[in-house]
Amino acid sequence: MSRLNEANVELAQEIIARYPRRKSALIPLLHVAQEQNGYVTTAAMEHLAELVGITPAEVLGTASFYEMFKFEPQGKYMVNICTNISCQLLGGEELLHHAEKTLGIRPGGTTDDGLFTLEDVECMAACTEAPCLQVNYRHEYRLDHDDFDTLISELRSGSRPDIPDHGTLGLVRQHIPDGRMAGIDSPEKTGSPEWFTARSSN
Ligand code: FES
Repeated sequence: MSRLNEANVELAQEIIARYPRRKSALIPLLHVAQEQNGYVTTAAMEHLAELVGITPAEVLGTASFYEMFKFEPQGKYMVNICTNISCQLLGGEELLHHAEKTLGIRPGGTTDDGLFTLEDVECMAACTEAPCLQVNYRHEYRLDHDDFDTLISELRSGSRPDIPDHGTLGLVRQHIPDGRMAGIDSPEKTGSPEWFTARSSN
């Protein structure tokens, strides 16, 4: 299974250079890995461990804390439907059942064509727009069942360029030009900060 490709190794080195310690770059690097394959592969985690100088177990230990990182193949579109209280009161559960019927899968499942993964999720901080859902973490608000079916048709036909494939965090890649870096050195180079030395000698 996939390690990072050549272009992403180059990107990874650029990201690592922004941090005083290599391992501090781990979270953005996990996003790079997830963007490449739609999920974080075991080989990618081993590769990240080599790149930042920690063990694969440490990479997994960090990544598995975060719900957004997935460790097995996902649909191209992850549909997260909220069934917490505000959404539930305004039809969130019925929307989820409708989605199950439309897509022919249960929460946690992926359609046979690999296009959609369905999830039943907790509040996504858009309670005033209930019932709502996210596709690849992009919100859709106040949906009735017809709106849901329209959304699925649009995704199937590729007419939603505003929603990228699962794993893509931003549509625009951040590049920090040379000379604009924060230039922070690690404590190994600079020594402990004064406030820390003062506190530890008390
Ligand atoms: S309860 Fe659904 S977004 Fe808050």
